[in-house]
Amino acid sequence: MNNKGTSICITSAKGGVGKTILTLNLAGLYATLNKKVLIIDFDLSGGAIAAALNLTYQKSVYNFVDDYNNNRYKEFKNYITSYNNKIDVLPSPKDPRQAGKINPKYIEIILDKAVFNYDIVLIDTNSNLSEINILTMDLVDNLLLVVTNDPLDLKNTRSLISILKDVNFNNYKVLLNESVNPFKKYFSLYDIKNIIKSNIDYVLSKDLYLKNIDSFIMNGEIMTLDDKASTAFPKDYTTMMQIITDIHEKGDKE
Ligand SMILES: Nc1ncnc2c1ncn2[C@@H]1O[C@H](COP(=O)(O)OP(=O)(O)OP(=O)(O)O)[C@@H](O)[C@H]1O
Ligand SMILES: [Mg+2]
Repeated sequence: MNNKGTSICITSAKGGVGKTILTLNLAGLYATLNKKVLIIDFDLSGGAIAAALNLTYQKSVYNFVDDYNNNRYKEFKNYITSYNNKIDVLPSPKDPRQAGKINPKYIEIILDKAVFNYDIVLIDTNSNLSEINILTMDLVDNLLLVVTNDPLDLKNTRSLISILKDVNFNNYKVLLNESVNPFKKYFSLYDIKNIIKSNIDYVLSKDLYLKNIDSFIMNGEIMTLDDKASTAFPKDYTTMMQIITDIHEKGDKE
């Protein structure tokens, strides 16, 4: 029997589209489904997962790589910081200068150890097409590409999708996130599909826009772990659950 966990990378063509919040929300939903989740923060130079969750931590991706490289590595769990009994985090480096010292050859080792130890591995990234991000996109089971109704983001997404097609990455789904810019209504769904030359698989609506998101972040809370989440934004709660269902149904077919 193969007990390997499922890996999901959340990426985008532009910054500030809601990747980090989505990563946390998916982690929350998986935790409610009783899955053991690891969030890896591969936004190496500007990672926000540990900060968003108010985690104090000693070890990061950098320490893993540094120890591995110097034969000091013993156990994966030594690099993990727990958020609760279901959600763990492998944080990005504390000092952004350490990001440049991470050799891409360790990415596969980190992901292998992660899926060996967890049911679900969620990877937050940044929007640079760096070697590390490309490798991650190639290695994961599922790729969620987050796009907003911002013209620059849409143009960049079109280029990113054409690159994904060129290199035969077929494991991606496109998610339109209307919850970061709920007041932007310039493009219709039809326009957006035309600009990015791709289908939209999921839409997170402006209903998910939370006026008090800052208080969640200040308190280190995850929206989907709130008792009222499924009634506060029922449609988007269902959409996020659907993303999870689709990922696992696909896995079962393979
Ligand atoms: N559902 C939401 N409601 C209100 N604000 C939101 C929501 N989701 C995201 N935001 C806000 O939008 C901003 C960008 O979100 P986030 O940090 O998740 O984007 P990102 O794609 O991870 O950005 P980066 O590329 O810089 O890492 C943040 O200030 C966040 O608080
Ligand atoms: Mg982010």
